[in-house]
Amino acid sequence: MTTTITISGAGGQIGYALLFRIAAGDLLGPDERVRLRLLEIPQGIGAAEGAALELQDGAFGLLEHVEVTDDAAVGFDGCDLALLVGARPRGPGMERGDLLAANAGIFGPQGAAIAAHASSDVRVTVVGNPANTNALIASASADGVPAERFTALTRLDENRARAQLAQTLAAPVDTIRRVPIWGNHSATQFPDVSHATVAGRPVTEALEAIVGDVPAWLADTYIPRVAKRGAEIIQVRGSSSVASAANAALDHVRDWVHGTEDWTSAGVVSHGEYGVPAGLISSFPVRAVDGEWQIVDGLEVSEWAQARIDASVAELIEERDAVRALGLL
Ligand code: NAD
Ligand code: LMR
Repeated sequence: MTTTITISGAGGQIGYALLFRIAAGDLLGPDERVRLRLLEIPQGIGAAEGAALELQDGAFGLLEHVEVTDDAAVGFDGCDLALLVGARPRGPGMERGDLLAANAGIFGPQGAAIAAHASSDVRVTVVGNPANTNALIASASADGVPAERFTALTRLDENRARAQLAQTLAAPVDTIRRVPIWGNHSATQFPDVSHATVAGRPVTEALEAIVGDVPAWLADTYIPRVAKRGAEIIQVRGSSSVASAANAALDHVRDWVHGTEDWTSAGVVSHGEYGVPAGLISSFPVRAVDGEWQIVDGLEVSEWAQARIDASVAELIEERDAVRALGLL
């Protein structure tokens, strides 16, 4: 079988980091052939065409075809998996929400093109910031495509959250589980360790021996470090995260398609779970089962945690209202 994958912004930094890993089988595995559609704007076509030449030179056995286009109708034709990366990144001193005016206009037309041209079970992952609200805009314009098919990438935040715990606990990162991100892919996000385990033991218990006052460490050190990691990368590197973002996007899509063993995090449409207004695309603890994300239900959420979730959701509501005021929703 061959899967058709559309990458918007394929001529950009994250696009370049994604393409070769997808062609090498890092997304769907060693048996699944892929057809790539590289969607760009005219200014980005040269970079995407260059990447297509290099893909050819990679002689990837799984890569059946590469198409470069600036026409969304062609880009999303028969698309099974869409990675919507094409958008402007933020620079130093900006918040991701500052990109709303610059980027929001991209996602309505792309949502409409997906509805018109993609395959009937298309799955869409929005990477371009502000990712949650861009996913909402795309979904709102995609008549006939279930809102559950539009997701926003918050897996990078979860990977960061697990990696920071691994470093503090001096434990291998793959022994750390259940660290969901709630809310927006922004500085208000809530990385939640209350259900997390390290090698099967509660993380909060393991942390106590190392950091002492766990609630203070979470509030003053850990949560800000994770939530502001994107800004830290921009400050140190001079531009926003690339390879780690591409890696997280692959994690997200791979889990969506192949299923999860345990919880992970994704921005998915709310049906009112955990007090998040229905219709918003918020990050939740999720499982992937039979190609569908399911929000993990019945979790105990403390008052402190709920206040953090509510604060991030309040920002999502503000973004939605700002987009409505721009006439894009
Ligand atoms: P980049 O500037 O290197 O590449 C963006 C590409 O998108 C450019 O080639 C540009 O020509 C193209 N583009 C712009 N408008 C387009 C459109 N309408 N259709 C198709 N292509 C279009 O940026 P990057 O570093 O690759 O980052 C891309 C986006 O991803 C940014 O918004 C960034 O903030 C975001 N991002 C999100 C996460 C996350 O975790 N959700 C992580 C890192 C970066
Ligand atoms: C990130 O989290 O690294 C990206 O969203 C880029 C950014 O602007 O922080």
